[in-house]
Parts: sequence; C-alpha cells; structure tokens
Amino acid sequence: MEIIKERRNIKQFTNQPVDMQQVMTWLDAAGFAPNHRMVQPWEVLVIGPETRAKLNHKANFGDAPLVLAVLSKGANVAVDQEENLIATSCFVQNFLLLAWQNGVGTRWASIGSTPVARETLEVPEGYSVVGIFGVGYPMNVPSSKPRTPIVDKIKHLQ
Ligand SMILES: Cc1cc2nc3c(=O)[nH]c(=O)nc-3n(C[C@H](O)[C@H](O)[C@H](O)COP(=O)(O)O)c2cc1C
Repeated sequence: MEIIKERRNIKQFTNQPVDMQQVMTWLDAAGFAPNHRMVQPWEVLVIGPETRAKLNHKANFGDAPLVLAVLSKGANVAVDQEENLIATSCFVQNFLLLAWQNGVGTRWASIGSTPVARETLEVPEGYSVVGIFGVGYPMNVPSSKPRTPIVDKIKHLQ
C-alpha cells in the first residue's frame, strides 16, 4: 500500500544513470496489465538525445537520465480505442509503481499529444501518446497532494 500512496510525480532528477536492464524488467512486468482480448496495446519509445532535443520540453523532463514515451494502439471501433487506452493506463501505472519500488521516480509529461511532438516521435496514425516519462533518481520528493476521501467517490445503487 505504501508504494501506491508514496509514489510522487518527480520534477527534478539527479544525473545518476538508470540501469536500462532493470527498466526492461519493469516494462516486461508492466505488460502483465489487464487488457481485453490480449491486444497488449502499449508500445514504448526510448527517446534518444536528438529526439529529446527536438521535443524541446521546457523543463527538459526534469533533466532525467532516461526518457520514455508510451503509446497506445488505435482501433477502428471507438469502444476498442477506449479499451486500449484503459489497458495502456494500467500498463503505465504498473511501470510507475515498479520504478518507485526500486527508488526510481518518473515525471509524466503530456506534451506528446501535440501535433509537433507526434511528428517528432513518428507516432503511427491512430495511436495515442499516453505520456512521455522522465525516469531517474529523484533530486527530492514532493509531499503528497491530498485526495478526496474515497467515500465521496462511491455511490450505492439499489
Ligand atoms: C494523463 C496525465 C497527464 C499528466 N500530465 C502531466 C504534465 O504534463 N506535467 C506534469 O507535471 N504532470 C503531469 N501529470 C502528473 C500529475 O500532475 C500528477 O500525477 C498529479 O499532480 C498528482 O501528483 P502525484 O502523482 O505526485 O501524486 C499527468 C498525469 C496524468 C495521469
């Protein structure tokens, strides 16, 4: 439970590199996320320096030593497209938590959905960019933002 509650979106990273082999094991485990009909709609881009510079993120992804983008495959039917996004979100959360469990933080940037970023990332037609993630060791960990009590989010139906 602590892993879920203590994970934070990290703004700034140290320059300590992240072991790519370790990252691969987290991505692999993240792929055990629930997904309808085993579509496994997620795809991961490992962003190299040239692409990173072209993305021109104003905070340079918190100077993270590693930047990943997560795409979600498109679908012809709206409900399938939505299900793909839902499954990819499960994949992302798995990854964020596994990284956090290992002392590695992530910074979520949503710039990937802009037309310029899509072009830079060579995103195939129909795919969504769920996020671009700075990945690294946190310079500091922000305090938790309070959440609405879950009872206020629950409705009982007859
Ligand atoms: C779909 C999505 C897009 C997000 N985009 C951004 C973003 O562009 N920049 C940013 O700083 N954080 C972004 N975040 C992270 C949220 O700001 C962060 O999760 C929220 O403030 C709660 O903080 P916590 O994750 O540390 O608990 C995004 C999160 C989600 C789920």
